[in-house]
Amino acid sequence: LDNGLALKPTMGWLHWERFTCNTDCDTDPTNCISERLYMQMADVMVKEGWKEAGYEYVCIDDCWPSHSRDAQGRLQADPNRFPGGIKKLADYIHSKGLKLGIYADVGKNTCAGYPGSLGYYETDAQTFADWDVDLLKFDGCFLDRSLIAEGYMSMSKALNKTGKSILYSCEWPLYEWPIKQPNYTAIREYCNHWRNFQDVFDSWSSIKSILEWTASHQKIIVPAAGPGGWNDPDMLVIGNFGLSHDQQQSQMALWAIMAAPLLMSNDLRDICPRSKELLQNRMIIAINQDPLGRQGLRTVMDCDVWERPLFGNRLAIAIMYKQELGGPRRFPISAVPGWKICAPQCNVTQILPQYKELGVQSHQKELVLSVNPTGTTLLTVTPLSGDLRKQHWNDTS
Ligand code: GLA
Repeated sequence: LDNGLALKPTMGWLHWERFTCNTDCDTDPTNCISERLYMQMADVMVKEGWKEAGYEYVCIDDCWPSHSRDAQGRLQADPNRFPGGIKKLADYIHSKGLKLGIYADVGKNTCAGYPGSLGYYETDAQTFADWDVDLLKFDGCFLDRSLIAEGYMSMSKALNKTGKSILYSCEWPLYEWPIKQPNYTAIREYCNHWRNFQDVFDSWSSIKSILEWTASHQKIIVPAAGPGGWNDPDMLVIGNFGLSHDQQQSQMALWAIMAAPLLMSNDLRDICPRSKELLQNRMIIAINQDPLGRQGLRTVMDCDVWERPLFGNRLAIAIMYKQELGGPRRFPISAVPGWKICAPQCNVTQILPQYKELGVQSHQKELVLSVNPTGTTLLTVTPLSGDLRKQHWNDTS
């Protein structure tokens, strides 16, 4: 969407995977969906280096509104959980130098059963603009799938009409896939990012299924990504309960290769130092935010080698090892198609599993890497002369 936003993949925090629809502020005030949760997250984001690392949007997901609209037909936040209202929350978030995201649904109800925007697109867009909201995540529950495209386009136009810049995060293709192949040209024209596949869960099988879906549809979805519009493989679940450290590294590395929005769903008030360090890793974030703005691809189908072309003829390579048995695997880099950019010589930096300068390598000399089970070895390669990169990308894309 050409609205000047999301020129690089969006970075921030989104409540859903970690906090779901917890509305019980009486017995669980720390974790319930309330203004307090977003204010505390914003405070931590500023204090603990998240903002400095690039995480900017603090996003509300489902279950924020009250069950009925007001007399003018406007959505209203649940008064018990958001006593100050959304405008005041936005002001608070802005005072921290951050941005506020909100959630609504293209259909009759949100997925959790709160009021949807069907019949109220312009009203709701204007309400969000009046509240000074910076991002809208627009879900696709409770609408006939044949009307999905039209609904998402109408909301995009309604947001545009408010005159305020609001980043538009869609789930349009996810809800359209069951009936037909979505029109990604149109999706890119109307949305800043879009979910293609099922919700992420805090588990390795969920991460693997998202990667598998992405790789097997890459011919269709990868060409659509670029500044202003990105494929969204859903939230980062790093720092929660379900992933080992190697698996967390795999999610971070592959989300960088996929040029994915980096929307964390975790508890930043209580996160282990290793997860924090991984999420704030400047070298991985730089791959994600690379100015060339091209999404990477899986280039070797049977052993999970992924590559992303970077600005300045550089290349990021992620080698993931899916097997959950045995020890680290030795992997010869010559099996990576893009390694030919190293002819005659290149400079190689290993970023994961730990940072190591591998120095000047020559194409002929065999470099053998070690990849942990369910982990990922992530590298950047900078050619020292010659340029075979274009050739490589014409061959594989
Ligand atoms: C859908 C979306 C999720 C989340 C929930 C909220 O499942 O895909 O990301 O927003 O709805 O109910």
